Amino acid sequence: MNLILLGAPGAGKGTQGELLKKRLGIPTISTGNMLREAIRNGTQIGMKAKQYMDNGMLVPDDVVLDIVRERVSREDCRNGFILDGFPRTIAQGESLEQMGIHIDHVISIEIDDHVIEDRMTGRRVCGKCGASYHIVANPPKTDGICDECGGELHIRADDALETVHRRLVIYHQETEALKGFYEDLGKLRLVEGDVPIEEAHRSILKVIGA
Ligand code: AP5
Ligand code: MG
Repeated sequence: MNLILLGAPGAGKGTQGELLKKRLGIPTISTGNMLREAIRNGTQIGMKAKQYMDNGMLVPDDVVLDIVRERVSREDCRNGFILDGFPRTIAQGESLEQMGIHIDHVISIEIDDHVIEDRMTGRRVCGKCGASYHIVANPPKTDGICDECGGELHIRADDALETVHRRLVIYHQETEALKGFYEDLGKLRLVEGDVPIEEAHRSILKVIGA
């Protein structure tokens, strides 16, 4: 099953992606996590992406498309994958279609802007595997340490409030239109995001028939 997780910054794409990965046994492909890894490793892609990400802007389509094209062609995606944070513009959605990659469901996690601020200020992410926690809603078992891989948790560079606001504006300007794009293709599934994590997970399983 090939899935797309769509939603504003902080909607819970990363959190739900991890739960789906465990449940369905298919990998999660997070363009945000891959770009952050590229920055940590100081690669050319990372150096290109950093200035955009730090400012809450979208990284140019061609950079992201190259990453996704290579990643979905790997062996572990043969039985399916979960795209988190891609596509993010109509042009990216069209490119995905042109690549001939079939998508079964596009899950849009619906959440109001006013909830986002609280989520972002409480978020902690693993510097190693990218897993997302929240100091109140989803704390790690050991303070500051990732449950999944033992990596150290930290605050993401683009979670400063001013940057979060910019990311939200860009979501509404550039990304939200993808809902109409996938609705026209009969693939859009809306899920309420402002509910406990487990409840959102159950709603997702229901809309994808899993
Ligand atoms: P990316 O990493 O994708 O960030 P984003 O879309 O802004 O989304 P987030 O990761 O911030 O939020 P999320 O929806 O994953 O929420 P999470 O589960 O962590 O992209 C970062 C940057 O990379 C972009 O700004 C751009 O520069 C670049 N980029 C990436 N992809 C690109 C692309 N395709 N094209 C161009 N540029 C691209 O949850 C948030 C918090 O809430 C956590 O603390 C979590 O524990 C908590 N939480 C989650 N669910 C719940 C719940 N139900 N109840 C209570 N708390 C919850
Ligand atoms: Mg994320």
